[in-house]
Amino acid sequence: MLKVQDLKKYYLVKKWPDEAKTIRALDGVSFHLPVGKTLGVVGESGCGKSTLARTLLHLETPTSGAILWENQSIAEIGENNYRKNIQMIFQDPYNSLNPRKRAIDIVCAPLQVNTNLSKQEIVDRALELLLKVGIAPSEAYKYPHMYSGGQRQRLGIARALILGPKAVICDEPVSALDVSIQAQVLNLLLDLQETLGLSYIFISHDLGVVSHVSDDIMVMYLGKAVEQGPKEELMRAPMHPYTRALWASSPSMDRPKAKEALALGELPSPMNPPSGCSYHKRCPYAEPMCREKAPELLPHGKTLVACHFTDKLKQNF
Ligand SMILES: Nc1ncnc2c1ncn2[C@@H]1O[C@H](COP(=O)(O)OP(=O)(O)OP(=O)(O)O)[C@@H](O)[C@H]1O
Ligand SMILES: [Mg+2]
Repeated sequence: MLKVQDLKKYYLVKKWPDEAKTIRALDGVSFHLPVGKTLGVVGESGCGKSTLARTLLHLETPTSGAILWENQSIAEIGENNYRKNIQMIFQDPYNSLNPRKRAIDIVCAPLQVNTNLSKQEIVDRALELLLKVGIAPSEAYKYPHMYSGGQRQRLGIARALILGPKAVICDEPVSALDVSIQAQVLNLLLDLQETLGLSYIFISHDLGVVSHVSDDIMVMYLGKAVEQGPKEELMRAPMHPYTRALWASSPSMDRPKAKEALALGELPSPMNPPSGCSYHKRCPYAEPMCREKAPELLPHGKTLVACHFTDKLKQNF
């Protein structure tokens, strides 16, 4: 349904009046998101996850690459139609919800702009959806600040779903919530996925959360995917040293600490990515060729891996 091919987003930042630097925030990712499925996106802070989200929503114009919705480009189906199909849930609903508007008005607004429904029909639809996400009609006339964090995220979900999108990008949707509330909101997202047939792109730092909700997982490093494929494969036998490092250093994964976990160290800047394989400076398996040649993302069993030494790594697991 959603197909992304070699998508890139570079930012040009002025360092000095006469010097500009390119930040390769997103440096060529490709994937396919089928109907009703979830692609989990993981990687350290700054690896380009939110840039991917904003570019997919077309809030940012891609530097290059293609975004295809049902095999059509955004230009072909039109920006407005595209936006009806793909919506976003943000990490911090407080910053993304207008504090001067009541919940009901926040959910009604997209219908007022995009449909010819009567006032009453719009209110009925909004109340029905709010109830579906767990906000009773008696709570629907409150302002966002009167809600708890969990309720606010439910409101954010209702706003994202009111126009009936088929795909939703969730950028850290539960990381601002108390742990006790996280599971409730995640279960709501999973219920909605099942009843509405939604596809999700689910971005999170928390591998436990990502492995719970995803069908496929993409591991990003400095704007690129270093490994991607079915969740079961990536969880059972991660191939890329970076995937292993992430897995081993995650508190929510009950894996013994591996050699790779100790090697994580500091993340290089996307303004000055290392030559060759961008992971080589942190990689415990790096060899001279890793400094010179960037590995391609190639099939390895059921997954795609960008590493020159997948065979060596296999023996090491
Ligand atoms: N508008 C912008 N102008 C310049 N650089 C940007 C812009 N937006 C993002 N970047 C840079 O692009 C890189 C990727 O940022 P992005 O926000 O996508 O990372 P992220 O993976 O979402 O991180 P986090 O986990 O902290 O949310 C970072 O180095 C960031 O500083
Ligand atoms: Mg982000």
